[in-house]
Amino acid sequence: MKHLLSIESLTSQEIYEVLDLADSVKAGRHSSTERPLAGQCWALIFSKSSTRTRVSFEVGIRELGGDVMFLSANDIQLGRGEPIEDTARVMGRMLGGAVIRTYRQSDVEIFAEYSQIPTVNALTDDEHPCQILADLQTIREKLGGIEGRSLCFIGDGACNVARSWIWAAARLGFELRIAAPKGFQPDLELLSRASETARILVTEDVHEAARGADVLYTDVWVSMGKEEETASRLAAMTPYQINQGLVGVAARGALVMHCLPAYRGKEISAESFEAHAKTLFDQAENRLHAQKAILRLISASV
Ligand code: CP
Ligand code: NVA
Repeated sequence: MKHLLSIESLTSQEIYEVLDLADSVKAGRHSSTERPLAGQCWALIFSKSSTRTRVSFEVGIRELGGDVMFLSANDIQLGRGEPIEDTARVMGRMLGGAVIRTYRQSDVEIFAEYSQIPTVNALTDDEHPCQILADLQTIREKLGGIEGRSLCFIGDGACNVARSWIWAAARLGFELRIAAPKGFQPDLELLSRASETARILVTEDVHEAARGADVLYTDVWVSMGKEEETASRLAAMTPYQINQGLVGVAARGALVMHCLPAYRGKEISAESFEAHAKTLFDQAENRLHAQKAILRLISASV
């Protein structure tokens, strides 16, 4: 694995390789003396806000022996129109690797191609691969595995996190159900490509999707970059909330998951959030471990 640009571009074997290593990275966090990024400086280049991703990458790179700089895309010449190709060629001469949060998926792909350094997608409009790998680690810890399980995604079925779940289902073969209103369902071209190997139900009926599910998963109704659509999104998605009534139709002991940040009273009720806070913050912590595994694997392939 030279880069991590999407879940779509991973094989099931690569996904399991990350998950297995993430488990051992987590277990050995305070005893490991390995510093595979020693002597390297990495950059985080972010065009969107972040708490979890920024902190977990900054901590993770340092724990692996590397140095790290945070670059807000607006503060570098990229924000004044310097092409991504030129930015990438400059950075490729100096950095050990790059972690990028931006809008267009093509921008991280172009950066990887032109910089020739390990490049990680830290969220684009199309995918959030680091999130899904940490979530799979969490599901394995709590349910023993994702195989044979069903995961129900509720809310904006066309967002980056939902799209990455579609590719995870295509690669790993678990049952994915997406409950989303019309207009916020995954696009048909994507579904038809993924459906060659995935079992995916897309429905407007949130109870149908949640019934007997092993995992109820949600994300914000208004993703970064979609703020102008806030009113129409809130109106359309109001029935698509994880609350204790919906948890009651899922499987007994079902996990409630959220990539965070969470908006209580919108995509998840305050009651459900607090009832499942242990899972939600274990999920957030696993961003660190899963990403350290990713960094180790891609830096080893250089
Ligand atoms: N889940 C996630 O990526 O959180 P941040 O936006 O805070 O990084
Ligand atoms: N879908 C959300 C994820 C936030 C981590 C967004 O893109 O804003």
